Amino acid sequence: MKIITFPHDQIPPELLDDIDSLYAEAYGNVSDEQRGDSPTEPPLSEAFQHFVMVDEKGTVVGNLAAYVRAVKHKDQEFQLGMIGDVATRTTHKKQGVAKSLVKAAHMYFAEQSIEFSVLFAYDPPVYKSSGYKMIENEIRFVDGRGEWRTLRIKGSMFCELGQAKWPAGEIDLCGPPV
Ligand SMILES: CC(C)(COP(=O)(O)OP(=O)(O)OC[C@H]1O[C@@H](n2cnc3c(N)ncnc32)[C@H](O)[C@@H]1OP(=O)(O)O)[C@@H](O)C(=O)NCCC(=O)NCCS
Repeated sequence: MKIITFPHDQIPPELLDDIDSLYAEAYGNVSDEQRGDSPTEPPLSEAFQHFVMVDEKGTVVGNLAAYVRAVKHKDQEFQLGMIGDVATRTTHKKQGVAKSLVKAAHMYFAEQSIEFSVLFAYDPPVYKSSGYKMIENEIRFVDGRGEWRTLRIKGSMFCELGQAKWPAGEIDLCGPPV
């Protein structure tokens, strides 16, 4: 198995259906509002980097989307890594696929000197061994209806990628959670 990566608008055509079917498999019972658009049809406003795990036959068995966004803390802007669309094919669960994809995304963020990664987990325990802790901060963000809200987001987690410590106080995502 290997990980391949490409920008969201340069998905290899032969992987398009595979990524969509994986997404349907992983998020099949989740409402559209919770899961957002298909990862192959991202909002045009925000770019992200795809990381996919493929097996020996070239079939996609895992997917992750890595976003880099300028966010704010106490009016100071900083670059935040954000991870979304984590999904593992049912046949390949609990074999370290998601963990390997998260590790690859962390390297991608670290190459850009990004200090923190954030994700919004349905299953927080999955990310503990990758270094994630629960976010206690209030978060300002745009919800699915386009309205700004400030609250603690259930399942939100951070990971310190370098020496910097995760700050206390409100974090402004300057956009939606991913
Ligand atoms: C959640 C999901 C991505 C995990 O993928 P995975 O490839 O099976 O995860 P990994 O094998 O890399 O496991 C990583 C760690 O989480 C643990 N883990 C995996 N699934 C778990 C679960 N359902 N509950 C608790 N822990 C779990 C593993 O034991 C492992 O722990 P370790 O590192 O301490 O050994 C996968 O189950 C999935 O696609 N679920 C449906 C979609 C979804 O919920 N996506 C996440 C959105 S945040």
